[in-house]
Amino acid sequence: MPPLGEISFFVRCTDFGEAMKRFLLFALVFVVLLFSVWISRPVREELSTTQSVFSTAFDDGLQPLLPLPVPSEQPLLRVSLGARLFSDTRLSADYSIACVSCHRFDLGGTDGRRVSIGIQGGRGGINAPSVFNSGLSFVQFWDGRAVSLQAQVAGPIHNPLEMGSSWRIVLERLAADEAVHRDFVAAYPDGLTAENVADAIASFERSLLTVDARFDRYLRGETNALNALEIEGYRHFREFGCISCHQGVLLGGNMFQKFGVLGDYFAGRSITQADLGRYNVTGRDEDRHVFKVPSLRNVALTAPYFHDGSANSLGKAVAEMGRYQLGRKLSDDAIKAIVAFLDTLTGQQPIQSAVQ
Ligand code: HEC
Ligand code: HEC
Repeated sequence: MPPLGEISFFVRCTDFGEAMKRFLLFALVFVVLLFSVWISRPVREELSTTQSVFSTAFDDGLQPLLPLPVPSEQPLLRVSLGARLFSDTRLSADYSIACVSCHRFDLGGTDGRRVSIGIQGGRGGINAPSVFNSGLSFVQFWDGRAVSLQAQVAGPIHNPLEMGSSWRIVLERLAADEAVHRDFVAAYPDGLTAENVADAIASFERSLLTVDARFDRYLRGETNALNALEIEGYRHFREFGCISCHQGVLLGGNMFQKFGVLGDYFAGRSITQADLGRYNVTGRDEDRHVFKVPSLRNVALTAPYFHDGSANSLGKAVAEMGRYQLGRKLSDDAIKAIVAFLDTLTGQQPIQSAVQ
């Protein structure tokens, strides 16, 4: 057959049935071609997540969120000393509680209480934040009064409503324990000192990163690590502006902000000293009710919420954030999606006995 092009393909053929068959075949090839062009079109979202490890899947110019890094190498001897001290009740005056009593590994590094309870049932004035990932926070405590993890340790030891002790008592007790004394001499050139106790505990805390949350996998390009509802929640989180405060690797922990930017959260409440927040550190009027923006990592495990533990559920906390920080009433659907998104921030939980 001479190559006469498509026309001859039909014209040459006299049998109507045969012509129809060829026409259908031609149509089929055309449809398949069209489909394959459509399937290989560039999809913006998918491309942007695979292009960069640190992509956010949304090309909206807002703050990027970053996956949690793997823990940096901490000196093993110090980490294991810190792990032991973290659950050592000799750090409290009456031997009744340890750090781990209020920062439980089965509760995302918190105590699950509205406010903490210290020695002899003393009720503290504030909710216990998680110790997990705390090494990545820019300062420690709700009001940021400790500039480092090392500086933080002295707080609970001396707080009469927490461990009610002192460095003198703690060092005396630890020095009397030969094994502890020996390990400190092995781990630090100057042996057992208050600084080194704090440093060992801080080294342990820095090892407590909750890596590999589903959201981290999503940020690294595994687009199916999140389902449609969770991605919808992430989209709201960006578009509503949660991300302007909850940002960086921790989705928080890198700035101070007022609680009640667009609504008075404290109206009609009796205000406690803890409610004054950063004001307690600086004494400046503009720091009243200013707090460290908390990390949202593992937030699904750390109810109740807020510095005063006033929100029992994540849904309630999200609704109140909408109201007081963004000045908008979030719909039930939006809250549901955001809570689903926040659930994806739960990473691998450290095991308490792993390093002991
Ligand atoms: C009685 C309960 C209790 C005990 C015991 C306790 N903590 Fe805490 N921890 C809290 C509370 C409550 C806060 C928040 C205090 C504040 O912000 O003013 C806190 C805050 C922290 C923070 C800051 C986290 C952040 O995001 O700001 C770290 C780190 C921490 N504790 C580690 C420790 C260590 C280490 C010990 C043992 C030496 C310890 N805690 C003992 C209740 C406790
Ligand atoms: C203007 C800054 C800002 C914005 C915007 C913001 N937050 Fe917050 N968020 C905070 C601060 C500050 C706190 C701590 C409040 C307190 O307890 O005193 C907080 C606390 C939270 C908590 C409780 C965490 C815990 O461990 O107790 C959740 C959950 C939360 N925010 C989610 C959201 C969501 C979701 C949005 C968007 C709908 C949002 N936030 C918007 C600043 C902000």
